[in-house]
Amino acid sequence: MKVLVVGKGAREHALCWRLSQSPEVRKLFCTSGNPGMYRIATPVDLSPVDIKQLADFAQSQMIDLTVVGPENPLSLGIVDEFERRGLTIFGPTRGAAQLEASKSFAKSLMQEAGVPTAQWAAFDDPDAARRYVKARSSPQVVKADGLALGKGATVCDDTDSALLAIAKAMEQRQFGEAGARVVIEERLTGEELSFFALCNGDAAIPLGIVRDHKAVFDGDQGPNTGGMGAYCPVPPYDQQFEHRVMQEVVHPILQALARRGTPYKGVLFAGLMVNGHEIAVLEFNVRFGDPECEPLMMRFEGDLATTLLAVAQGRLADISFKLSPRSAVTVVLASAGYPGDYRTGLPISGLDQIEGAEPSDLKVKWALDRVRVKAFHAGTALRNGQLVTDGGRVLAITALAEGLEAAAAAAYEAAATIDFEGKHMRHDVGRRNPLIVS
Ligand code: AMP
Ligand code: GLY
Repeated sequence: MKVLVVGKGAREHALCWRLSQSPEVRKLFCTSGNPGMYRIATPVDLSPVDIKQLADFAQSQMIDLTVVGPENPLSLGIVDEFERRGLTIFGPTRGAAQLEASKSFAKSLMQEAGVPTAQWAAFDDPDAARRYVKARSSPQVVKADGLALGKGATVCDDTDSALLAIAKAMEQRQFGEAGARVVIEERLTGEELSFFALCNGDAAIPLGIVRDHKAVFDGDQGPNTGGMGAYCPVPPYDQQFEHRVMQEVVHPILQALARRGTPYKGVLFAGLMVNGHEIAVLEFNVRFGDPECEPLMMRFEGDLATTLLAVAQGRLADISFKLSPRSAVTVVLASAGYPGDYRTGLPISGLDQIEGAEPSDLKVKWALDRVRVKAFHAGTALRNGQLVTDGGRVLAITALAEGLEAAAAAAYEAAATIDFEGKHMRHDVGRRNPLIVS
């Protein structure tokens, strides 16, 4: 099988890594990629949004399966273009990708499908939005309707901050056109979880539950990022909980999308807020999460290429995989200043100690022989043979070990061996009691 992976971050590196282990995969390509991916995949000098050129490439190379990492090409219709040409691709069409590309689309679909979500309203007029928040006494969240690199939601403590968020999104256009419309919703409290299911039409199988760490500093302080770390499994969320989310969230949404004539295909990512027995959906994404994908791929046992191909072809009954019972923890190493401005081109050292190392080279005190560590590249580049930083999130150090404590220890031990100027990480990934947002 010839496989093309679209995207170039740590999520795509993790996907490439697992795909490259499939005995079925003869050749693996990635779009532009990063030096971590070059070891296992051949780079194609195209951007993920060069849709026509990517389809030309897939046609000329007779690619059997294309896997799309990021949301942008999906919302621009990469799947529609590939399928029009008879090419097999993993991901939803442009119509179904609206689930992520428009918050108001997702909210109205949830309402139609009876999926629990925070009370909401959508506005194209800032004055109407202001009147709405002034009439409410409970805290609100103001969200840009469109794609805003994960930064479009402002969680507000009071009316003044909601009014400010409305002005920034709708009048100052902080998120560009994505903020021309806003969704304003009730602020929920509880524990956040990322839920993943593989879907085609109205068939779906759960893939796993992951906890992300969105804020930039320890203890969930500071601004939200794309994600500073993640781990799974997430006790106490078990198969019974998974079953409930499939019944109450995933299946109803898939049925509603199919009814609207835009059936869903690919991985569905539901961002959940769980409070006691109550589950509410904060958002849907139409792709794997980053960094959630990294610990998931670390635990994935099976053939990822045949699994994703079966999803793309609607043969979910043919799929068999399991997740390792061990725990996986990902610690993101970020550039100083991220998620704001940051420098790039800074030399990275110490990576060879992880990449070349056998697990037993690491001085991990727990379960020595059962630890595995991988450094997935997020924003890295090669300059004159030197690995340098090339993004806000630089590396996603991921460890697999017996139990959460051992996996976190292994990830942090490996993270400590890597150095670049201004290296920033959270120190509490997988090490905190379940987060309660209040
Ligand atoms: P979103 O872009 O919708 O995923 O929102 C980004 C982040 O804002 C989420 O991961 C939550 O941490 C927070 N958030 C979004 N919606 C709500 C809500 N209704 N109540 C509380 N927090 C929220
Ligand atoms: N880590 C959250 C996301 O990928 O959207």
